[in-house]
Amino acid sequence: MTLDLIVRGATLTDGRTGMDIAVRDGKIVEVAPSIDGAATREIDAAGCLVSPPFVESHFHLDSTLSLGQPRMNRSGTLLEGIQLWSELKPHLTVDSVKERARRLCTWAIARGTLAIRSHVDVCDQRLIAVEALLELREEMAPWIDVQLVAFPQDGYFRFAGAPDLVARALDKGVDVVGGIPHFERTMEEGARSVRALCALAAERGLRVDMHCDETDDPLSRHVETLAFETVRLGMEGRVAGSHLTSMHSMDNYYVSKLVPLMAEAELSAVPNPLINIVLQGRHDTYPKRRGLTRVPELLAAGVNVSFGHDCVMDPWYSLGTHDMLEVAAMALHVAQMTGQDEMPRMFDAVTVNGARTLGLDGYGLEPGCNADLVILQAANKIEALRLRPARLFVIRRGEVIAETAASRSRVQLGDRELTVDFKL
Ligand code: FE2
Repeated sequence: MTLDLIVRGATLTDGRTGMDIAVRDGKIVEVAPSIDGAATREIDAAGCLVSPPFVESHFHLDSTLSLGQPRMNRSGTLLEGIQLWSELKPHLTVDSVKERARRLCTWAIARGTLAIRSHVDVCDQRLIAVEALLELREEMAPWIDVQLVAFPQDGYFRFAGAPDLVARALDKGVDVVGGIPHFERTMEEGARSVRALCALAAERGLRVDMHCDETDDPLSRHVETLAFETVRLGMEGRVAGSHLTSMHSMDNYYVSKLVPLMAEAELSAVPNPLINIVLQGRHDTYPKRRGLTRVPELLAAGVNVSFGHDCVMDPWYSLGTHDMLEVAAMALHVAQMTGQDEMPRMFDAVTVNGARTLGLDGYGLEPGCNADLVILQAANKIEALRLRPARLFVIRRGEVIAETAASRSRVQLGDRELTVDFKL
């Protein structure tokens, strides 16, 4: 039987080279050197790295690309960003949110990201963003998986009516239960919100992903409650703690107890390196804390760590093009994970680990997996992190849905013309 697609001469993410990948009916059917047979389409990877797609573990599609509306964040701080978002919220329409989110999805696809977990702010009686993103999730489903988290941005107990709004959002079909315990009025209320939201998720059979301890306060320890509730409710492997920046500042002895609890609960940790490095440590003079959670220590303890971009051109972050390799490269630098064995793990944090956080089915390069692939203009994971190269082909269910020309510079030195591709 004719194949739909063969990618030839691929270098795989496990290091194997000269591999062919055969695709039929949207699935990978064989991965082997020199596969015989004809296909409707053949792509010569020419030794380039072929990866399963990038996974965005933490994003905000409702606020993205709203930069400057209704004004710029002059200070660049988290608190001014929250104030700005509350000014924009009453003016949101379903069409405006969808239009911006759809545009961001096209940027993500062009960069090889084919799954996005997006928090959606439910602290709005109209639930405009929820409605918009539910429609967008269906509209974009052929090309990109959008998973939505019911996020009570202004606090589950702090914002009047939030419990009802979270429940309504979940009733409408939002996938995951969110929260923001460090933003509640007191530590006790924060812990109570974690307990209530985990119970809600357990009752409905849903996953949990909370903005958790996004602060420099070393005593913000809601992740401890999150781990405890996860085990108590038998939700191991289905709960994520996003940001976890307070862990950067925690006492080392306390962390030596906390990390095993997180591992026991099979929590996923979701740092957002670009945002953490610009928003944390703002009250410090010098030394100024980095605010990224303890990535190497979590990985060493067997905790699943995946990264989020969090924001692109919105009230909190005015930069970005939605490139998960930029996120991974930032993490690599800030966490000082420059060892030869450490760098590839930063690539994994925006691919396989993200798939685990989201609970994606059919993700990977093995036969039987969805034929979702990215061909990068790089030879291996470390080179991909260094170059953040062109995503030559982005393939969804065996169809090419995005292409980018290979990047090469021509340098003229007198009579000599040189081609520069930044490779040794
Ligand atoms: Fe976030």
